[in-house]
Amino acid sequence: MNNSGAAGGSKWLLTGLGVLIALIGLGLAGGGGQLITTEFEPSKAQRARDNLAAGGLLDLVEIREGDALETLRSKLPEQIDLLLLDGAKGLYADVLALVEDRLRPGALIVADNADYCAEYVAKVRDPEGGYLSLPLPGDVELSMKRA
Ligand SMILES: C[S@@+](CC[C@H](N)C(=O)[O-])C[C@H]1O[C@@H](n2cnc3c(N)ncnc32)[C@H](O)[C@@H]1O
Repeated sequence: MNNSGAAGGSKWLLTGLGVLIALIGLGLAGGGGQLITTEFEPSKAQRARDNLAAGGLLDLVEIREGDALETLRSKLPEQIDLLLLDGAKGLYADVLALVEDRLRPGALIVADNADYCAEYVAKVRDPEGGYLSLPLPGDVELSMKRA
């Protein structure tokens, strides 16, 4: 993982609240990274806030509440190292389009339940689409932004 972002540490963007999994991998507490996640349902966002607060981690995660297509429209890091897609399956292609100019070359994108996202899979597997991509067991699509 690249730790050369302007504010130090990796920049991760998540749709769907896969916060705990992400925290384990990111090592935010010591690494100076930044994690932004977005959730449509206020009760789920609040539960995540409560859990993070209980673990003393709330200040490491920015939870944006609302439709990802709105919440991710602005105030993104200059460079994103990892995008985890696990929100509304029908929005994967649109979310990617929204943030892809911020994905650094070599950035990884993990898309869960990719079988439900034909448009998204077609985009990341298109040889001209700007990504290297492969399906993983468990209906996960792993993609890398090309240089
Ligand atoms: C399959 S669940 C993912 C759960 C998540 N991995 C977690 O650990 O909680 C999909 C989530 O996406 C949220 N969601 C659905 N539509 C959304 C939208 N337009 N913008 C942001 N989040 C959305 C749902 O409320 C739900 O919590």
